[in-house]
Amino acid sequence: MKTLILGAGGQLGRELQQSCPQGVDMVAATHAQLDIRQQESVLSFVAECQPELIINAAAYTAVDGAESKPDLAVEINAEGPGYLARAAERCGARLLQVSTDFVFDGQASAPYSPRAETRPLGVYGHSKLAGECRVQEILPMHSLVLRTAWVYSRFGHNFVKTMLKLMAERDSLRVVDDQVGAPTWARGLAQALWALLEHPDAHGIYHWTDAGQCSWHAFAREIQARALALGLLDREIDIEAIPSSEYPTPAQRPAYSVLDLGSTETLLDRPAQPWQSQLQAMLEDLKTHPEED
Ligand SMILES: NC(=O)c1ccc[n+]([C@@H]2O[C@H](COP(=O)([O-])OP(=O)(O)OC[C@H]3O[C@@H](n4cnc5c(N)ncnc54)[C@H](OP(=O)(O)O)[C@@H]3O)[C@@H](O)[C@H]2O)c1
Repeated sequence: MKTLILGAGGQLGRELQQSCPQGVDMVAATHAQLDIRQQESVLSFVAECQPELIINAAAYTAVDGAESKPDLAVEINAEGPGYLARAAERCGARLLQVSTDFVFDGQASAPYSPRAETRPLGVYGHSKLAGECRVQEILPMHSLVLRTAWVYSRFGHNFVKTMLKLMAERDSLRVVDDQVGAPTWARGLAQALWALLEHPDAHGIYHWTDAGQCSWHAFAREIQARALALGLLDREIDIEAIPSSEYPTPAQRPAYSVLDLGSTETLLDRPAQPWQSQLQAMLEDLKTHPEED
């Protein structure tokens, strides 16, 4: 099946390429190769490629940056997916749009189902929700929206790599303890995404993260413990739990953004893996490939 991946240079885009199943004829486009904000470029690129499937892993993911660049966030996260949906419609392709837990307001106390009411708190969440809506309006039966959360990988910038760097440089850290979510290794997400696409009739909204939940503080402590055991760090530092009010950011974040994976687990006939074992696997991956960005 000919498959076009956008955002090929990002965390998920790179893991999608690494885990591409046999039999998939993959074309991967980085931001430099195709800017999804350029409607004519998108239409001609897709027309030339003639994919049967398009995976959009391209996004403006700077949650705080989006607050001061709302137009850019909307162009990339809402208009770009709309152009991709139009291009997919013209060549009869399915489109998978990756989205986020930040479409929710975080006021729930149980995991959000794919049908739960959305209410983004910031520009990033609003722009991603608008992208979901555009894709579904244009391709109601031929699009999938896969929401995920707290993504990390050995590639790119993410919480795990930032923590490892700070833990090596500093004598103590302060990390927020009142935001709860599900850390998700991009490798496992990529594998679930490929498995989802094996279902030709699947359409609509799906949720996928690693299993379980924790606060950023608990996540940081787990990173430190496992990195020490693997020799990625050589000394333990103090990690203090603080409330979000002591770490102000331009964008407000949901306090609780755990996603209910049940319907996707049932469709894929497999459970998500615990976030702790996925973190272990990523850290081992990082240890094996220390030179990669
Ligand atoms: N990271 C998370 O914690 C998280 C959480 C929930 C959902 N998600 C969603 O998961 C998906 C993948 O995220 P990720 O973590 O892999 O993000 P990422 O590492 O930031 O990768 C995003 C990629 O999109 C590219 N891009 C940006 N603007 C573009 C444009 N106009 N045209 C084409 N490509 C463009 C970026 O290229 P440049 O770097 O060259 O600009 C980058 O390679 C996104 O839909 C994101 O919203 C992520």
